[in-house]
Amino acid sequence: MTANWENRTLWTADNLDILRGMNSDSVDLIYLDPPFNSKQNYAAPIGSRAAGAAFKDTWTLDDVDLAWHGEIAERQPALYAILDAAGHSHSKSTKSYLIMMAVRLLEMKRIIKTSGSIYLHCDPTAGHYLKMLMDSIFGAEYFRNEIIWGYGGRGAKAVSRQFPRNHDLIFLYGAEKGRKHRRVYKEILHPLHKLPSHIRIDKTGKPYKTSPRGDYTDASIARLEKENRIHRTSSGNIRIKYFLELRNSTVVDRSLVGDCWDDIPDMMHTPKDERTGYPTQKPLALLSRIIEASSDEGDMVLDPFCGCATTCVAAEHLGRQWAGIDLSAKALELVKFRLKKDTMLAEKVLHRNDIPQRSDLGKLPNYRTHKHSLYGIQEGCCKGCLHFFEFRHLEVDHIMPKARGGSEHPDNLQLLCNSCNPMKGNSSHEELVAKLTRDGLRRDHRL
Ligand SMILES: C[S@@+](CC[C@H](N)C(=O)[O-])C[C@H]1O[C@@H](n2cnc3c(N)ncnc32)[C@H](O)[C@@H]1O
Repeated sequence: MTANWENRTLWTADNLDILRGMNSDSVDLIYLDPPFNSKQNYAAPIGSRAAGAAFKDTWTLDDVDLAWHGEIAERQPALYAILDAAGHSHSKSTKSYLIMMAVRLLEMKRIIKTSGSIYLHCDPTAGHYLKMLMDSIFGAEYFRNEIIWGYGGRGAKAVSRQFPRNHDLIFLYGAEKGRKHRRVYKEILHPLHKLPSHIRIDKTGKPYKTSPRGDYTDASIARLEKENRIHRTSSGNIRIKYFLELRNSTVVDRSLVGDCWDDIPDMMHTPKDERTGYPTQKPLALLSRIIEASSDEGDMVLDPFCGCATTCVAAEHLGRQWAGIDLSAKALELVKFRLKKDTMLAEKVLHRNDIPQRSDLGKLPNYRTHKHSLYGIQEGCCKGCLHFFEFRHLEVDHIMPKARGGSEHPDNLQLLCNSCNPMKGNSSHEELVAKLTRDGLRRDHRL
């Protein structure tokens, strides 16, 4: 399915609304860098280009639409169990944060192509819970990497009684087969006069390093010998030579990038002209690596929490299509400013705040009913027996029965489990409670 929006679209809006309006299977790569549940509020420094930009990262139950509880509990009971467990083991605030994330990740799962990849950037505050969410939503078998971005490689700030924190986490999920992935190498520069022992200089003056013979056949070894690709150790063992580039008296070694990235410094140590002042801005080098590894030219890249639009700018430089969403209007101003600096494309950015119309199914599905909201209000607890239930075992009950004049107004509605509801029949709620208490069936299991 193709995207139902244009390349270079930037929305100023809540990403949940926009994601819900996007076609299924329409995005090749999603990178998201949401608030981390850091319990801090962020604001750009006055005088910086991003001045005025601010976002909060403290979460309470009031930040969560109560119907989201029911929506998740209905669509994915196992996912709701994880959220509930986080609420019990950590805090209600963490549960609220994770609910905010879960409803959005469910939409991202729907819009990403089967050949696509999703990178979720977070830190150790909620990383362990977010990984469980990702496992539940995308499937544990889709987990590819936990990337450690060690941004503080140049020295960490001391903190009393603990090791200073100087890394973020980036979870990569995508199919094992059929997913776009390109190996990434980084350059390590060695001055010619100070080479490490694994780099040698050939008779012809060319620098090289070696690897074991592996399972090369004798015929292949003979061919490599002719190409001057064989190195013999002092004990006579054969190793294969790999020639390295010599650049201005410096030997350029290339090494395969693994899942610990400590070669990309944080914004404090990034060239000044890249810094916008936007709080939590990420380096272009980080996004370029992600985009190059997991997408092809012309692919659609989406950043639903785009901030100062680093992903959009990196995608533009690499010839990808892109879309960004952020609550802050600063994102538009900054992406235009950043694109204007080195391309003539700023004028082509399309600004929107309306919800896209899905062209893959016509009307948006009805995401909420009273039952969804009641599930959130009651947190899955039956108002009769006070036991906790999965969404499917709860039924909407009229507190004052319709047969006795009760209305359809939400104030007259509650959830009862599928044992208490038939027991209540046309009696009032008080009558049900009296019966359950008399029969010893009403216990309070709330923690
Ligand atoms: C950590 S920052 C992203 C920084 C970004 N990666 C960059 O390089 O600038 C998180 C962003 O998410 C945005 N945000 C938070 N909740 C949002 C929501 N519901 N919809 C859209 N954007 C949201 C905030 O305004 C903030 O800009």
